[in-house]
Amino acid sequence: MTPATNNSPPTPQAELRPEQLFERLTAAAEENEALGRELLRCYEQLSLVFEITEHIATLQDPQNIQQSLLRRYATMLGASAALLDHDGRCDSVEGVDAVAPLALDPTRLRELLRDEIAAVRSSRRTTVPTLPASVATELDGAHVLLGALPQFQSETGVVIALRRSSDPPFDSSDRLAAESVLGYGGHILSNVLMVRHLQQTALETVRALANAIDAKDNYTHGHSERVGWLARMVGQALGMPNRQLQILEWAGLLHDVGKIGVPERILNKPGRLTTEEFDEMKRHPRLSYEVLRPVASLAPVLEGVLYHHENHDGSGYPTGLAGDAIPLIARVIHVVDIFDALTSSRSYRKGFTIAKAYEILRTDSGRVTDPLVTDCFLTAFERYRAERPADFAERFAHIAAEADPVPDDEEARRGR
Ligand SMILES: [Fe+2]
Ligand SMILES: [Fe+2]
Repeated sequence: MTPATNNSPPTPQAELRPEQLFERLTAAAEENEALGRELLRCYEQLSLVFEITEHIATLQDPQNIQQSLLRRYATMLGASAALLDHDGRCDSVEGVDAVAPLALDPTRLRELLRDEIAAVRSSRRTTVPTLPASVATELDGAHVLLGALPQFQSETGVVIALRRSSDPPFDSSDRLAAESVLGYGGHILSNVLMVRHLQQTALETVRALANAIDAKDNYTHGHSERVGWLARMVGQALGMPNRQLQILEWAGLLHDVGKIGVPERILNKPGRLTTEEFDEMKRHPRLSYEVLRPVASLAPVLEGVLYHHENHDGSGYPTGLAGDAIPLIARVIHVVDIFDALTSSRSYRKGFTIAKAYEILRTDSGRVTDPLVTDCFLTAFERYRAERPADFAERFAHIAAEADPVPDDEEARRGR
């Protein structure tokens, strides 16, 4: 018996008739065209995803990022609404048609989609839910797409996108595009919030450190906090941008941390300091600088801290810089530091009245302090007192209201 072989020639296919061949070619061409259209749509959505995420990555404010993300998300999907359900609320998005076409408020929409929202929140998958008939009717047949938005330190947000019933339903490519935009966008948003959170934590740490320093000196309670606050006020009056204001406030809060290295017997000495004791006190700006230098994120405040006792005429310390060579941030801190020292009670004298402190600042302007910054401070502080008397009364409650004591101000001006 001869074994069966597999290498027998293929059975020739039946020849196609011309009209059959035409039919097949037409079908293939149509399929190609559909694929081409789908490819083009995918490409357009990909460009949009890229454009949206690139745009929001340039924004700084989390609220702006969220609004911009949702607005563009709705536009990309051709949705009549985009609402974010998170933190127990359902917020509509400014600039989008919200749920107005459905005559529904966000709370009602949230109630209607409660189960579907919960499912998306736990699966973190973007879905086109199948709705119960009663819900579909109340939504007037609108198409619904629910997307998951990752959120920093809170439960996943759910973005509800709605399309009118007269528009095409959401399909798989809408779902994929939605997932990409919300995935990337949510991570950008989370990163910004995380940076904010770290900044806040760092600021609280800085405050705690400054308070620890003030606690060491019995007579300078709240000094660092006030210097930080006043420095920001002057920075605002000088028209500095927000980032500079933050740096100024931090430099003000931290300017005296080096006093941690000055013995308490000197800080709290009831009488005047000897020359040797004052030399010891004068080490504190450089000590502050050395304490803060290893913290990379505090680099911008270093020059404010190091030079806050430099005088306009070059007679200050630790380096003897003069005029504009002294960094502006240090010139601002110098003025408000002196004001706060003059108006606070010290171990060797009672605090001066505001009028007396102004008088001393005016006399020393151009010699000890920068004249422009001094003028700016005097104007800004007067305006603050006039416009916010309650805040002033609380923040500067310690300032003496009665007549000034003996005019011994020299040590306060020199950084004690
Ligand atoms: Fe100070
Ligand atoms: Fe100081």
